[in-house]
Amino acid sequence: MPLEVSMGFDVQAEEPVIWRPGRENNGIMLVTGASGSGKTEALKTIIASIARHGIPVIAVDFHGDLAAPGLTDVLVSGGVYGQAGVNPLSLEPAGIARVGLCSKIDRELARINRAVGRLGYKQKACLSLALTHAYWMRGITAEDRSSWALAPPTLGEVSELLLAGIREGVEGFQRNTLEACHQKVRVLAESPAFNHPNGLNVEVMKANNMRLDFSTLSRPAQVLAAETVLEMVYEAERARGSIPVPCSSDAERFRLFLVVDEAKILTLGRGDASRADHIVNILATEGRKFGIGLILASQVADHFGDDVHAIRPTRLVMKNMGQREAKRVAPTIGVPASLLEAEAEPGSAMLRSNSVGGLVELEMRMEAGEA
Ligand SMILES: Nc1ncnc2c1ncn2[C@@H]1O[C@H](COP(=O)(O)OP(=O)(O)O)[C@@H](O)[C@H]1O
Ligand SMILES: [Mg+2]
Repeated sequence: MPLEVSMGFDVQAEEPVIWRPGRENNGIMLVTGASGSGKTEALKTIIASIARHGIPVIAVDFHGDLAAPGLTDVLVSGGVYGQAGVNPLSLEPAGIARVGLCSKIDRELARINRAVGRLGYKQKACLSLALTHAYWMRGITAEDRSSWALAPPTLGEVSELLLAGIREGVEGFQRNTLEACHQKVRVLAESPAFNHPNGLNVEVMKANNMRLDFSTLSRPAQVLAAETVLEMVYEAERARGSIPVPCSSDAERFRLFLVVDEAKILTLGRGDASRADHIVNILATEGRKFGIGLILASQVADHFGDDVHAIRPTRLVMKNMGQREAKRVAPTIGVPASLLEAEAEPGSAMLRSNSVGGLVELEMRMEAGEA
């Protein structure tokens, strides 16, 4: 079983390069490089290799170009082609038992805030009330544990409540606050991603190695849908408890891998990539305990927060890098900047990880015969 991911060819040693996540401190890889340098192709190679080992992979695809062997494509969108959706208000009873419904609602508020833009403090209070009320209308309250298993409300219901509030007035809130909230929630509530009768759940996503194609959604809906999925996965694995220590195999060590291409859409989503409460940072720092591997790609290293860098992830750095980024990244992986700036074919990269013995110069490009 050991999980062995074929990465391509070591240019210096002239031998294949194998990444062994089970021998790393954590199963986290950051892929960085300019547009067109081969990040998405690299992810596809890695995904196919992990899937071949029978370890589930869930891929978040904002651009719609991450179809890879071993993945089942699921279009999260509207129209007749939309295949599935998610409900950001859905509850995971074990997660609620840990944090409580009020803090769950606070997290939802923070996610909506990141997705649609800053809400003022009055708007936050207003939306918090609307969310709480929407759960209550479904019979779900903070006090009654048994209610957490009931069907959750939808964003559409929250939007309706706000609309009713505008019509009838709500004590303590001005009309313009209610209107601003309604405006922001409506943008999301109308997105087909949050209205689909076929709701995604973690077991189904894992069993089918799903590529979630968010490419046709609006940016706010992309952010909210992706954060929702990542949090669902985190909560579900957390609810299963920690992986054994020590692990006897990589099958125990890795319950699944999450892959996010164009991760900046999530990490920069109106705010600071380093925020401790951001799900990407939570996954990076806590995911290992619960068997979650994480592979993230974006153009520059700054798209990832301090916590992500601090855990010393495996780094795949594509060549053909802009001068500025090359200067910043070169010292962090211990190569001269000129090497990263060098003109190179897509798929030429440096890989830094323990399991490849430090740093290797890598060629991921397959020759016609090998492919
Ligand atoms: N390993 C590779 N082997 C062959 N061609 C590649 C490889 N990586 C990238 N390419 C070529 O470069 C193009 C851009 O690669 P892509 O992975 O989409 O870049 P990025 O995601 O970094 O913008 C691909 O469409 C493909 O034609
Ligand atoms: Mg790409």
